[in-house]
Amino acid sequence: MQNRFIDSVSELPKPLACALVPLLGDDFCGYIDANQLANLVEQSQLSEQELLLKILPIAAALASPTLSQFFVGAIAKGASGDIYMGANLELPGEALFHTVHAEQSAISHAWLSGETQIVDIIVNFSPCGHCRQFINELVDGSTINIHLPGQQTQPLSHYLPYAFGPKDLNVTRPLLTKNEVEFVLESNDPTIIEALDQAGLSYAPYTQCHAAVVLETHDGATFCGRYAENAAFNPSMQPMQMALSNLVRHNREYSEIKRAVLVESSKGQISLVGAAMDALHTIAAVELEHIVVEPI
Ligand code: THU
Ligand code: ZN
Repeated sequence: MQNRFIDSVSELPKPLACALVPLLGDDFCGYIDANQLANLVEQSQLSEQELLLKILPIAAALASPTLSQFFVGAIAKGASGDIYMGANLELPGEALFHTVHAEQSAISHAWLSGETQIVDIIVNFSPCGHCRQFINELVDGSTINIHLPGQQTQPLSHYLPYAFGPKDLNVTRPLLTKNEVEFVLESNDPTIIEALDQAGLSYAPYTQCHAAVVLETHDGATFCGRYAENAAFNPSMQPMQMALSNLVRHNREYSEIKRAVLVESSKGQISLVGAAMDALHTIAAVELEHIVVEPI
């Protein structure tokens, strides 16, 4: 095996490494389903908790920390039992606020895959304040268990006491709640239709700016990102960041991007087009297609 996971695998205990290698192809994007996880637990003879901590370097190998060279890996475990890895992403030459944290990458991976609840988050460094706030936006956020190397497992409420969250702004259907907004748009362009569907699944309770980005590569593959707002506003995750983090998790290069589409609601109090263009133009010479749609 000669790919981005090779160094991390060589550090793992032999039985775990042998069980994992068949999963770690070039296209491994950090997703392991509940059955595969049960097999890994059995074959490695570790507890699930030990195993998840041990495979964090595999998650960290999905990172693209072009500025800091600091590799952070996180795993979100969904209520389905499936696990979703994520890693930090830094954009070369752009303002630091475009950075995606590993925890955000893992959570957005779970959300884009249809999870409606996250029960555990495992991460190789203590989550920063911004990530604690981001996690607090999720369904039952304060009870999500945080697992760190060398620390006792604690719920988020331990790491974020006296929390400020969606309830303070009277939002009762927090992030990961299934919610669909429908828009009026006639199109038979599959990339635009995908962006439209994803915008309908976005989370924008504070501005109603439902939005999503789809990036299309030269071979026709697509990578989407939805907008995910936060009660404290600043830790919100932009759809372009989520899409880029999705693309990088799938081991794709920025130079493969052929098209970028942003769909956003005409009823939003804000527009994400400027932020999306800034992020896109730092990594690709592609014009952003901006489509404003009317909710039904
Ligand atoms: N980082 C994370 O991914 N998660 C945290 O909670 C701590 C910080 C990343 C962000 C940035 O890419 C790098 O680590 C240095 O801060
Ligand atoms: Zn963070």
